[in-house]
Amino acid sequence: MPDNAPRAIASALLTWYDRNARDLPWRARPGANAPDPYRVWLSEVMLQQTQVASAAPYFAKFTARWPSVEALAAAEDADLMAAWAGLGYYARARNLLACAREVARRGAFPDTEAGLRELPGVGGYTAAAIAAIAFGRRAVVVDANVERVVARLFAVEVPLPAARPVIYAHTDSITPDARAGDFAQAMMDLGSAICTARNPKCLLCPLREACAGFAGGTPDRFPIKAAKTPKPQRHGTMFWLERDRQVLLVRRPDKGLLGGMRALPTGPWTDSPPGLADPPAEAAWQMLDETVAHGFTHFNLDVALAAATIPSHAGAAVEGEWWPIADLESAGLPTVFAKAARTFRRVLCAV
Ligand code: ADE
Repeated sequence: MPDNAPRAIASALLTWYDRNARDLPWRARPGANAPDPYRVWLSEVMLQQTQVASAAPYFAKFTARWPSVEALAAAEDADLMAAWAGLGYYARARNLLACAREVARRGAFPDTEAGLRELPGVGGYTAAAIAAIAFGRRAVVVDANVERVVARLFAVEVPLPAARPVIYAHTDSITPDARAGDFAQAMMDLGSAICTARNPKCLLCPLREACAGFAGGTPDRFPIKAAKTPKPQRHGTMFWLERDRQVLLVRRPDKGLLGGMRALPTGPWTDSPPGLADPPAEAAWQMLDETVAHGFTHFNLDVALAAATIPSHAGAAVEGEWWPIADLESAGLPTVFAKAARTFRRVLCAV
């Protein structure tokens, strides 16, 4: 690429943005005075949680009810949490309130990237975005859209996530001193409208001539993603202990996976099938032919199923609660146990 390529890239992108910028409620028009930092901050926090189309009604609701950071700072926690409901990830909403209160205490948003970083819940991306968009500071703003555009523009062969510092450095190399906020939002708009994850519209792209990914013929190969490491496979046994058309349920220990939830008794979850280890009671346990598979976030579980029936007068010393089998749906079992319970009932024809 020639020496003037970074400037040519910024200039082509900004010219495109001047004609094609999306009109979004938290935005100033291209080249106009910077928008209210409160609105920029609020939109950036919401946009980390959801897409532009779903964020817009929340943004309208929040700014109508709390038109300034001081108004938001004075909100009741419960009101803010209720208004946030549906956006998910409630830690973000709690941080939103903590941040509003900190800004209200200080009297204004800090106007530098480093200052913004000190606020609760404001990470590297958000600080850079606010510094550029609300304060016109030169800052390197890399969200998922920008990451894709830059990985293609420079044909970054390093897979994500290791590519992040490389992509940041390339973004830095093309970020202009002036109009940094428009530049950041132009990159976002380009990623959302033209340089899309699938079927990028390269023929409409203002950066096509500079794009190494396009030149190589397969721009959508980028960004390259590291092969996912397969999840570990674990094994366990669940026990179905039946007595008088009732089944034994236990409460899982408060700490750990599915802590405090009602469940079928299980033995340990281990690297190889544990068989009949740790049954909830002595009984004539029978292994079923079927198993149940379940994917957790960090591992896959394959569960063997063991069943036994004891007479009505037995089981007095067994810990847990006897639950009517016909009413098992109301026990609130987590999915893996509900799946196992359905299999037990089908195979044993218990009810
Ligand atoms: N995604 C995150 N911030 C955005 C912005 N300011 N404009 C468009 N998309 C965004």
